[in-house]
Amino acid sequence: MSLIAIVGGTGLTELEGLELTESRSVETPYGAPSAPLEFGRFGQKEVVFLARHGKGHTVPPHQVNYRANIHALKQVGVKDIIAVNAVGGINAAMGAESLVIPDQIIDYTWGREFTFADRGNVLHVDFSYPYSEALRKGLLAAAATLGINVHDGGVYGATQGPRLETAAEVDRLERDGCDIVGMTGMPEASLAREAELDYACLSLVVNMAAGRSDGIITMEDIERAIHNGMGNVRAILAQWLS
Ligand code: HPA
Repeated sequence: MSLIAIVGGTGLTELEGLELTESRSVETPYGAPSAPLEFGRFGQKEVVFLARHGKGHTVPPHQVNYRANIHALKQVGVKDIIAVNAVGGINAAMGAESLVIPDQIIDYTWGREFTFADRGNVLHVDFSYPYSEALRKGLLAAAATLGINVHDGGVYGATQGPRLETAAEVDRLERDGCDIVGMTGMPEASLAREAELDYACLSLVVNMAAGRSDGIITMEDIERAIHNGMGNVRAILAQWLS
């Protein structure tokens, strides 16, 4: 059976229900990943969990070593990755606590180490459809089984952070066609593609994006949405892995 990885983001720094068998510190040609890889069984499946921002949530989005994270997962034999991301909602239908399984990405990040193709190897991977349709369908089916409402598709706008956007920036993202906005979707997804790993994203909306609600975005609001919404994320992952 192939090895599955869950990359947990803000609000998901550990995978409840994972029968941990080993916590392994891995080195890669790109340095160390954000945290030791946690191996275990979840239901019927062999799973590796990686905390994208480190175990103590100390690594901000623009400083995540995405190359080391993806390379480490590849090194240990992972084939499929489910990435969990906290995002802001741009599309009015995607309010706080909504779940979205996006099908497209627009990349606005800059200055990140974003490719494995910079060591004399020229590589132009196809990225027309950035997410694995099989993994997306699997997550959608798991959500449907549980009766949890999930948006099937949407455009993930990946911004640089760590600050949140201005209202005008969110207007631009909306004009571009973005439905949700987050800081960690890229280059994680394209590195997975370069590494020939199947990858899909399960996004939890934790706030309406800048200028899309009355007032400003507070950490209290974000934390409340994480608290209320991560249970559904965990349930979908558990169902999908069962
Ligand atoms: N913008 C960017 N990233 C985010 C947001 C947001 O509003 N909320 C959570 N991650």
